[in-house]
Amino acid sequence: MSTWIPLTPLETLADGTYERFECDHADVLVFREGNDVFALEDRCTHDDTALCGGYYFNGTIACPRHGAHFCIRTGEALSPPAYEATTVYPLRISEDGLIEISFDA
Ligand code: FES
Repeated sequence: MSTWIPLTPLETLADGTYERFECDHADVLVFREGNDVFALEDRCTHDDTALCGGYYFNGTIACPRHGAHFCIRTGEALSPPAYEATTVYPLRISEDGLIEISFDA
């Protein structure tokens, strides 16, 4: 059984934006596209630096250092100089409207 950790109310994250959360297991970026939410580890696999601050557009985030793009749904590296995916974490929306994350997988 998964442990779900509350992050923030869905309503506080505007559609088309993302927010960074510092969790015990990892720092994560949570993206909102309509009523869907996605979580990536805040780590570019090119040089193990933060993705936070990167440009988020059309389902991707661009690393602010050298511009590698990552898919926010799968974590896949879509352009060089990154070639490895970054970690994706499962999210859910609780009955109370909270975005919750699991690190159990
Ligand atoms: S550190 Fe992200 S592309 Fe280089």
